[in-house]
Amino acid sequence: MSASWPRSAVTPSLGEIQAPVKDRLGQVALELRRIVVADFPMIEQISEHLLLMKGKLFRPTLTLLASSIEGRPAPRAATFGALVELVHLATLVHDDSVDHSALRRGMPTVNSLFSHQISVIMGDFLYSRAVAELARLGDVEVLRTLASATNEMTVGEMRQLGAVDALQFSEDDYEALIRAKTASLLSAACEIGCIAGAPDFRSVLSRYGRCLGMAFQVADDLLDYTATEASMGKPAGSDLREHKVTLPLIAVLPKMTQAERREVETLFASSNTDEDQISRVAGIVTEHGGLEYARNRGEQFAEEAHAALADLPESTASAALHDAIAYAVDRSQ
Ligand code: IPE
Ligand code: IPE
Ligand code: MG
Ligand code: MG
Repeated sequence: MSASWPRSAVTPSLGEIQAPVKDRLGQVALELRRIVVADFPMIEQISEHLLLMKGKLFRPTLTLLASSIEGRPAPRAATFGALVELVHLATLVHDDSVDHSALRRGMPTVNSLFSHQISVIMGDFLYSRAVAELARLGDVEVLRTLASATNEMTVGEMRQLGAVDALQFSEDDYEALIRAKTASLLSAACEIGCIAGAPDFRSVLSRYGRCLGMAFQVADDLLDYTATEASMGKPAGSDLREHKVTLPLIAVLPKMTQAERREVETLFASSNTDEDQISRVAGIVTEHGGLEYARNRGEQFAEEAHAALADLPESTASAALHDAIAYAVDRSQ
């Protein structure tokens, strides 16, 4: 296999990527439920709500696929996948509070149903359940990998918050940010799968996960411009509404006329952005080719992810890992 992995004309569906590990994904859901159990009614109630909000389970899918590329049994892979998803869920609870988002996975967020205080504590609860379970299992390598990704994600989120003048954010700043806040966990998800069942491929899949994670976040930032709330289960246009500068906008800032630049500056300076302002700026970004630019950059990361898999033995799992790249780039949710 090589970097020029044959492309199918049709983007693989999430179901197709998950098919080789479908049963084990069912175990992940059970493990998740087991791990978050708490002896406190309010926490039980919020956990129940969070477990009802079903995400794509993309990260545990990567853990399970990575764990099976050598064809060895990996008895703990489902538990490890659940731990990766749990850390992801904790970051979403915190992220929605930080971003003041009201909708996630088609359902109200913890901050909108309860409060920001409760989101902070609930996110901490989920993180600490993951750490407690890892300590119980005693697998220091998995603990080290997940702890390091979690730490990197936190620094990434802080980097985003610390950007004083968002419009000064460069493409390099953006890449450093998404590497930390998203690619780190996708990389850890793959690496942890390898620790469970394919130790020889740990560094290869860690690199694959990084590149895949970059492509995945570029696609998320594109979807924020192009998709609908109904398909994503979270509001579209949120990044501009929250004054977040992502790749489509960064790419076209230097090309704007003075009037267009003023329009963007007005949006970023106003605390109450109206929907017309957002669609005008989205229009400017689109007209100057910002979406196309980001799509191409996403494709480059995708190519790097395919290249990282070049020496992987052929198997159902490795084919699914290739398909996961096309899915990450072309998905609609
Ligand atoms: C959302 O992740 C956060 C990002 C890194 C963009 P997902 O798109 O995997 O969200 P769920 O888990 O399917 O809800
Ligand atoms: C990804 O960033 C969030 C994390 C990695 C925690 P976003 O803020 O773009 O994620 P969404 O769009 O809210 O899912
Ligand atoms: Mg967010
Ligand atoms: Mg987003």
